[in-house]
Amino acid sequence: MKVLVLGGGGREHALCWAIANSSLVEQVFCAPGSDAIAQLATPVAVGVEDIQGIVGFAVESGIDLVVPGPEAPLVAGVADGLKDAGIACFGPSAAAAQMEGSKAFAKDVLDRAGVPTARWQRFDQSAPAKAYIEKLGAPIVVKADGLAAGKGVTVAMTTAEAIEAVEAAIDEKIFGEAGASLVIEEFLDGEEASFHVMTDGENVVPLATSQDHKRAGDGDSGPNTGGMGAYSPAPIVTDAVHQEVMERFVHPTLKTMAADGTPFQGVLYGGLMLTSDGPKLLEYNVRFGDPECQVLMMRLKSDIVPALLAATEGELNHVDLRWWDKAALSVVMATNGYPGDYEKGSPIKGLEAAGALDDVMVFHAGSKRDGDHWRANGGRVLGVTALGDTIAAAQERAYQAVDLVDWPGGFCRRDIGWRAV
Ligand code: AMP
Ligand code: GLY
Repeated sequence: MKVLVLGGGGREHALCWAIANSSLVEQVFCAPGSDAIAQLATPVAVGVEDIQGIVGFAVESGIDLVVPGPEAPLVAGVADGLKDAGIACFGPSAAAAQMEGSKAFAKDVLDRAGVPTARWQRFDQSAPAKAYIEKLGAPIVVKADGLAAGKGVTVAMTTAEAIEAVEAAIDEKIFGEAGASLVIEEFLDGEEASFHVMTDGENVVPLATSQDHKRAGDGDSGPNTGGMGAYSPAPIVTDAVHQEVMERFVHPTLKTMAADGTPFQGVLYGGLMLTSDGPKLLEYNVRFGDPECQVLMMRLKSDIVPALLAATEGELNHVDLRWWDKAALSVVMATNGYPGDYEKGSPIKGLEAAGALDDVMVFHAGSKRDGDHWRANGGRVLGVTALGDTIAAAQERAYQAVDLVDWPGGFCRRDIGWRAV
C-alpha cells in the first residue's frame, strides 16, 4: 500500500513512524512533512489545506489511504474530495468534522445525545452575551465558535475578563469569522483526561487513555500552550469511568450523528473533565491529540494500518487493537520564550544519543536540518517519548533522553506525568 499522511508536526511524525512500521505498507508520503519526517516518509510539497492539490497528488500517485493529522483539512472537506475520487481517507467528512469546526454544532449534538457537558448558550451579539455572563457569574468560559488555532478559549476567573473576551471576539473580531459567534458556558472544575476512539461510524474501538499538560510551567502553572507533554495510560480514567464514557458519551454521540445524516468516521477525541459530579465532556476533536498521539503510537503493539483501513470500510467490528503493557510519556521541548515570542534557528545537538536509548523515540514537531545539524524551527520543537514499566519509569527514561539533548535555546517542563506519578 501507499499511504499519505497530511501534516508536518510531532503527531504526524509519530503517525508516519507507526504507518512505516506496517507490513502492509510499501511507501509512506507526507504532505508537507518535515525534515525529520523525511527520514521515514517521502515529502510532498502540498499544503494541508490545499484540498485539490492533495486529491490530485493522491490520484496521480496511486495512494491507497490518506491519514489527515490536523483538523483543518478535514473541516475543509479533504475526506469528501478524496471519497469523490475513490480514495480511502481515515477521517470524517466536512459535515461531521463540524464536531470540532463549530463549538455550537458540537454542543447541539451533545445536548440531543444526552451527553453530560457544561451548560451553554450561543451568541453573535455582544450585549446579550454580556448579560448572560452577568447572570451566570464567574468563573465562566468564553469560546470562539470556529477554529481559532487553539487560542479561541478563555477560561475567565472574573466577569470582567469574560466580558473582555466577548468584546475582543465580537466587536474587535480578533479571531475573524471564527469568533463572530461565541459559545459561553459554565466553568467545570476537575482533572482533565483525553479519551480517543476509532470509529467507522457505528463500530467503536477505544484507544488507550492519556492525559496532556497544557500549561507552560511546572505544576501546571503559567500560560496555555499547544501541549507540553503527555502520558498514557491516564490512571484517573478507571474502568468505571471508561465504561461510563463509552456508554453515555461515545455511543450516543455516534448514534445521534448517524441519525442526523452526518456519520462520523475516523478518530474522535473527547476532552473529559472528571468533576466531583462525574465525567463531563469539554469538547470533541476530530483527530488525534498532539502530543497524545506520540504516546499512543509508542504503546500500540498492533499494526495500525489494518485498523485505519477497517474504519474507512465500516469493518471495525473485526479489529482488536493490542497495546504494550507499558506506560509511555512524552516531554515536549520548546524554544525559549514559547508560547510568547521566540526566535527560530537555535542549534540542537545530542539528538542521536537521545534517540539511541532503548524504548525512546524523539519525535520532531518543529525542526529543520542544516547540514549534519538540527535547528529549532518553531515553538514546540521536540517530543522526547519513552516507554517504561510504570509511568514513573517512563518518566525517568524520557528525562534521561531529554538530558542528552544539548539545546541551550530550548526548555521543557521537568514534571510531565506528576499527577500520575
Ligand atoms: P479547547 O481549546 O476547547 O481544547 O479548550 C482549552 C482548554 O480550556 C481545555 O483543555 C480546558 O482546560 C479549558 N476548558 C474548556 N472548557 C472548559 C470549561 N467548561 N470549564 C473549565 N475549563 C474549560
Ligand atoms: N492535546 C491537545 C490537542 O491536541 O488538542
